[in-house]
Amino acid sequence: MRIAVFRRAHFNAAHRLHRPEWSLEENLEFFGVCANPNYHGHNYELEVKVVGEVNPDTGFLIDLKVLKELIHQHIELRFDHKNLNLDTEAFKTLNPTAENICFVIWQILRDVLDEKYELTVRLYETPRNYVEYPA
Ligand code: NI
Repeated sequence: MRIAVFRRAHFNAAHRLHRPEWSLEENLEFFGVCANPNYHGHNYELEVKVVGEVNPDTGFLIDLKVLKELIHQHIELRFDHKNLNLDTEAFKTLNPTAENICFVIWQILRDVLDEKYELTVRLYETPRNYVEYPA
């Protein structure tokens, strides 16, 4: 039986959207208040979807304790209560848009999750604005 298992997680982080090649005025015009030089915060909600075949012996697709711990170790500890632009390697040069954060999280989890599973990551920047990778 093929099935999907979901785990939700959460982190708070600050960021600023900007292109260093642009002036402050150009950044503010394109990114709006998200380009404010002194940063702002979001309560990011993460939804991790794992798809695969249920193990007939255990009835499990994946042990949710294991998935919870993977997300905690590799995502929450890395990003929670951080300034994404200043405190994280991933966004030192990459603009921390919801799109890019979602893709970075997918790459990190893809690396540590058994390749027998399909992985989808959905990231909510606000309750109404969210992105998903792969599309
Ligand atoms: Ni923002």
